Amino acid sequence: MKIHFVNVGNGDAILLQSEAHNNSLARTILVDTGTARESEYTEPRIRISKYLKAKGIRKLDLLILSHPHDDHIAMTIPLMDICEISEIWVNHLLPEAAWGKQIDEQSVKDAEFLISSLNVYSRILKMARERGIPVIEKKGDGSTYQLSDFLSVRLMNHLKIEDHSFGKRLQKIFDSNGNVLTEDNAVREELILLNRECNASSLALIFTENGRQLLLTGDSCGENWSSGFLQELSQMDIDVFKLPHHGQNDSINEEGAVAVSPKIVVTTGNSDWKSDYSYPASYHLIKNSLNYSPQFLFSDKKRSEFYFNVTSLVRALIIDLPEGTDSIVEFDEIPDLVTENRRS
Ligand SMILES: [Fe+2]
Repeated sequence: MKIHFVNVGNGDAILLQSEAHNNSLARTILVDTGTARESEYTEPRIRISKYLKAKGIRKLDLLILSHPHDDHIAMTIPLMDICEISEIWVNHLLPEAAWGKQIDEQSVKDAEFLISSLNVYSRILKMARERGIPVIEKKGDGSTYQLSDFLSVRLMNHLKIEDHSFGKRLQKIFDSNGNVLTEDNAVREELILLNRECNASSLALIFTENGRQLLLTGDSCGENWSSGFLQELSQMDIDVFKLPHHGQNDSINEEGAVAVSPKIVVTTGNSDWKSDYSYPASYHLIKNSLNYSPQFLFSDKKRSEFYFNVTSLVRALIIDLPEGTDSIVEFDEIPDLVTENRRS
């Protein structure tokens, strides 16, 4: 499989391509779509819609939205206009009565990001219904889905037991007409809590093709992972691991790093200082927890230069995981800015 970590700035958009071979069909899958905020797309960042167009991709066999935060879902709306999407998987559906409805974004202090993201999400759900695109709620229950003869995805049961209620609680903030009564104190308090907990509820996905494995946990950080999940990870051979929550200082803990023991660690997100993305302590911790240094890659301008052996600006990091041979790391380059390609 070929994995494109597209530089969408502050967000995730990860394209997976599995080629047709023997009688197995090719598959094109996208995990998250990135933000739609205009200000985010300074050079060399690129909207996922533009990137897919440049690659000649007009059809997605599957779109997976890891969790309903703006930086993971917002470009889904324009994408539905330019791409045929066969199916969308989400971690939590909103009640159908709420699809298309909007909540006053300033109505609850400390829940603004969740509310603005839910507004985007409800528009996505409505638009998908209008286009006849099935939106399917998937739970991390350990199920494996065969996406082609060779490519599968496993939805990991990665959360501690106390974190499992997020989806049900999210549903309950809507009344029977799909409205959110933000003047109700109990609703306000719940929105503030849900705002804090949304990241942890991300889907955790392991894609496998010909024995090569990719682990994506959205923004669900190491401290949220159950001991059962850590145990399962420790028995796997993960080639590529996207650092959760854009490499913030809470992204991974020692137990998590050791359990994953990846060959390549990718961080996605922008590296300005406002969000502490690409946080040096995260890389330091990973390196110190393992008895080797994985290859560190970052989709945007780097903050922790010391850990990255490629200093160029890229539109996307592309990692090819061929069967039985070394990973190949390529860069979708900006002319004159990129100086090197490497094999790992
Ligand atoms: Fe995020």
